[in-house]
Amino acid sequence: MKVLVIGSGGRENAILYKLSENKNLQLYIFPGNGGSIEYAKRVNLENFEDIKEFCIENEIKMVIVGPEEPIANGISDYLESYGIFTIAPNLKFAFLEASKGKSKEFMKENNIPIPYFGYFDNFSSAFDFIKSLKPPYVIKADGLAGGKGVSIAYSLDEARIILIEYFEGKFKDASKKVVIEEYIDGFEVSAFIVMDGKDYKFLGYAKDYKRLLDGDNGPNTGGMGSYTPVSIDENLHRKIIKNIIEKTVEKIEGYKGFLFFGLIIKNNEPFVLEYNIRLGDPETQVLVLSWSFNFLELLTSIKERKLKDFIVSFNELYFLNVVLTSKGYPFEYKTGYKIENIEKVDKSEAIVFHAGTEIVDNKVITNGGRVLNIVGFGDSLNVARERAYKYASIVNFENKFYRKDIGL
Ligand code: GLY
Repeated sequence: MKVLVIGSGGRENAILYKLSENKNLQLYIFPGNGGSIEYAKRVNLENFEDIKEFCIENEIKMVIVGPEEPIANGISDYLESYGIFTIAPNLKFAFLEASKGKSKEFMKENNIPIPYFGYFDNFSSAFDFIKSLKPPYVIKADGLAGGKGVSIAYSLDEARIILIEYFEGKFKDASKKVVIEEYIDGFEVSAFIVMDGKDYKFLGYAKDYKRLLDGDNGPNTGGMGSYTPVSIDENLHRKIIKNIIEKTVEKIEGYKGFLFFGLIIKNNEPFVLEYNIRLGDPETQVLVLSWSFNFLELLTSIKERKLKDFIVSFNELYFLNVVLTSKGYPFEYKTGYKIENIEKVDKSEAIVFHAGTEIVDNKVITNGGRVLNIVGFGDSLNVARERAYKYASIVNFENKFYRKDIGL
């Protein structure tokens, strides 16, 4: 069987790693990164039409889409109109991630617990609403902003400046509308499910670290680290399943693919901050390693709409991911530096997933903001953490930067 994966990050590298457990599978990736060739053939395609042609010519039986943009641009509908099965939801569900405002309205209509919010297309009503809240204020670009569209303002003055920037196009069309949300001071965790159009399976929790700097300071990033499993007690887990996941699943019949819930927990009560219509990055890099089922079989059961009978199981280990970034990320940074010592990582202690890397003249070089994911593992979070940090320090490149408090 032949499968094409779409995406270029650490998430897609982890997907390839997990799929490569199936030795008879021929894997392709577009566009991929410097780590892809260990598992897959990289292909160079320009657009949806190219992807379709490639799949037809090469008899690709399944396409797995990692990032949100192609999903929000309708890749699933397009490829399926040519009979190519695609692991990604259809366009009619894209709003769940592609419009923060519409998705909040959906959650409100369906009594899914969320922070108090307002949805605005102009500065003056947005600012009036902010004045009715207590600081800090959460301001979100309505559309897709690469994980960077959320700002927290600690004063009215700061909120005014952020709102002006957003409405003046800081995130282009994505910030023409904004969501303003009550700030909940709690514990953030990501919960993952997969659906086959009707039934769903729970795929685990992972903790993601979105801020750039230790102690959750600095600007938002795509994610600086992650770990799994996360200790969520039975009572809380039941609430999440019943009040959030099942209430959502009931209302999205026909949804096929992954769905992740960005949650915040306060006083043992869960609230949804956002939906994402895909797997998370860098959460996937730890989740796939915790799954003891065959990933291809899970995907096949989606295709055959037999997810109901699929048994999801987890191993007993802990996994902790430290993301090595290029200094300057998420703003300006330089790339093209040689990466050294990856071969010194002992695979019985840690796995490296590539993200912003490329191979030039047979050397692995930095080619992005988030460069590598170093996932340590062991039978406690502490052991996983020690191992991840040991190799985060050994693997090296110029301008390397990483958080030192993942898992603490
Ligand atoms: N880790 C957050 C995201 O993938 O959006």
